[in-house]
Amino acid sequence: MDISGRPEGFASGGLELYAFTEADFLVIKQLVHEHTGIYLDHSKRFLVQTRLSRRLKQLGLKSFREYRRLLQNDDGSELEHLANAITTNTTAFFRHDHQFEFLAERLAERQAQGGFDGEIRIWSAGCSTGEEPYTIAWVVNRVLRPENRAKVKILATDIDSEALAVAEAGIYPEEVVAPLAGQYDLRGAFLRGTGPYRGFVKVRPELRERVTFRRLNLIRDWSVKRPVHYLFCRNVCIYFHKDTQRALMERLADTQDEGDYLFLGQSESLFSTCNLYARVAPAIYRKLY
Ligand SMILES: C[S@@+](CC[C@H](N)C(=O)[O-])C[C@H]1O[C@@H](n2cnc3c(N)ncnc32)[C@H](O)[C@@H]1O
Repeated sequence: MDISGRPEGFASGGLELYAFTEADFLVIKQLVHEHTGIYLDHSKRFLVQTRLSRRLKQLGLKSFREYRRLLQNDDGSELEHLANAITTNTTAFFRHDHQFEFLAERLAERQAQGGFDGEIRIWSAGCSTGEEPYTIAWVVNRVLRPENRAKVKILATDIDSEALAVAEAGIYPEEVVAPLAGQYDLRGAFLRGTGPYRGFVKVRPELRERVTFRRLNLIRDWSVKRPVHYLFCRNVCIYFHKDTQRALMERLADTQDEGDYLFLGQSESLFSTCNLYARVAPAIYRKLY
């Protein structure tokens, strides 16, 4: 029973909110932390209630008690939905654009110095709905000659299977890319939708084919082909506790060699989490050894 006096749930602005006790919050918070590394402080309680109420409704459940029971007997599939519901997927093409200019300059420099011996590996860790890795592919295609482009491999990973599905499709509403129109040549990166896809754009195949998407939980066991020459892990660690950040940064650093680059979110830093990098520009780091 909740304070509205109705059994289990109540309607609020069109969304049915299920009654959510402190005990419910603590159980969910613990599960989310164990499974995703995301730390939910008390300020997130309403957000969790709102996002999961949608899930409970989808499942046809009557209460969070039932949902907790379902999670207890879960084979992993509901945990996937839980992670999808809790993650924050905010992203954009050319988000923190100075970082992509920096990448463009480094790639152009290398090309001018004679090109690339082997593969150039770029990893977008926490790629969300794909805007970040496609921006990287866009830069690669803009800056490099075809023979060098072919050597660039972009790996894009995320824990959120729904976000990854959007990323793999590479289809976005026009208003997502419209703000870029003055600054970038949109025709070089997108095809305009027609018929049922009117109002949408699709990432061009020559960008799409440069990116490999994979579901990967950063706080579980994983391995990627190393060295990663350019590692983007932006606006992911902000959701983690310092201890989780420290442990993750150590493993991410293991994927890179001396001189490789790390890109963080604008509000993130390595201060007190990792001393293996030197800061070379705002939110851009270079591996020391
Ligand atoms: C705010 S988005 C950042 C997207 C992009 N990197 C950017 O800066 O625009 C954070 C992403 O991190 C992902 N994430 C959160 N916890 C994760 C984990 N344990 N493993 C992998 N990805 C995770 C979320 O699913 C979400 O898509």
